[in-house]
Amino acid sequence: MILSTSTLTRVHESRHSNSSWKHGHGSTTHLFTTSVSSTTPNEKTETNNHISINPHSKERNSWDNYRLLISAIAPRPIALISTVSADGKSVNLAPYSYFNVIAHDPPTFVVGFGNPPTGAKDSFINVRDTRQCVINVVSEDFLEAANAASIDAPYGMSEWSMTGLTADYCCETVRAPRVKESIFSIEARVESVKEIQSKEHPGRISSWLVILEGTRFWARDDALNEEQDYICPEILKPVASMGGALYSKTTDRVEIQRPQYKNYTERKVGNVDHLIGRI
Ligand SMILES: Cc1cc2nc3c(=O)[nH]c(=O)nc-3n(C[C@H](O)[C@H](O)[C@H](O)COP(=O)(O)O)c2cc1C
Repeated sequence: MILSTSTLTRVHESRHSNSSWKHGHGSTTHLFTTSVSSTTPNEKTETNNHISINPHSKERNSWDNYRLLISAIAPRPIALISTVSADGKSVNLAPYSYFNVIAHDPPTFVVGFGNPPTGAKDSFINVRDTRQCVINVVSEDFLEAANAASIDAPYGMSEWSMTGLTADYCCETVRAPRVKESIFSIEARVESVKEIQSKEHPGRISSWLVILEGTRFWARDDALNEEQDYICPEILKPVASMGGALYSKTTDRVEIQRPQYKNYTERKVGNVDHLIGRI
């Protein structure tokens, strides 16, 4: 079923932001912050201060920074990445949340693959060797299955059967299957790979940044509008990674229109004119 934009807009549920906010008003909660150490988590206090943290201080290691960053840079979208080995004999599926879209012309995506002491991740090995993969957006309906795909299975052992997800070998520009349950998937080819050098262990690669170019999109027809330029959030039901074992659903959406400088200056000039008139 293909929906027109107006139908999608009608089913699109979101609430409007604080409508009394005006330019210059700043934060709606002022400078107060919530303290995680307070006995009542939502208690607000005027005594909170910011603490400067040097990521390279002697008291910290890279795991401290890892835990801090995955909880602070959140929510992060999750790419459930499907790959095949270079010899075509094994398939792999794993979730990655060091992921985002960074450009649309051409459609460009980034993924950060860690390089733990146990060795490069299977997905990275396959992406590096075959220069291709499928990125599947994770929805609420198969969050548990996507999480199950993060199992540390040995190289060559497929996670697909452990997740119960369906491999659809329909891709047109890559050999890997896409996740049939995913509302939106992207066939992608490697544009470039950048090594990230460890500062904690000089001479060691801590991770790889892979830049991918999207070559095909697969969108479920009931979630896509007629113009093929919009995915309905109620159907996509995207989930995000919040650090550790925490995920977030996107059930509470807020709609805020983007400001236009033209309107801002016109209103300001209007105010000034009004004042000048009175003077
Ligand atoms: C929600 C989630 C997000 C993850 N994001 C990343 C990531 O961005 N980079 C990474 O190296 N590992 C990430 N992991 C861990 C990998 O999924 C895990 O190491 C997995 O075993 C890798 O599988 P593979 O070796 O088959 O590629 C994530 C795990 C989960 C559950």
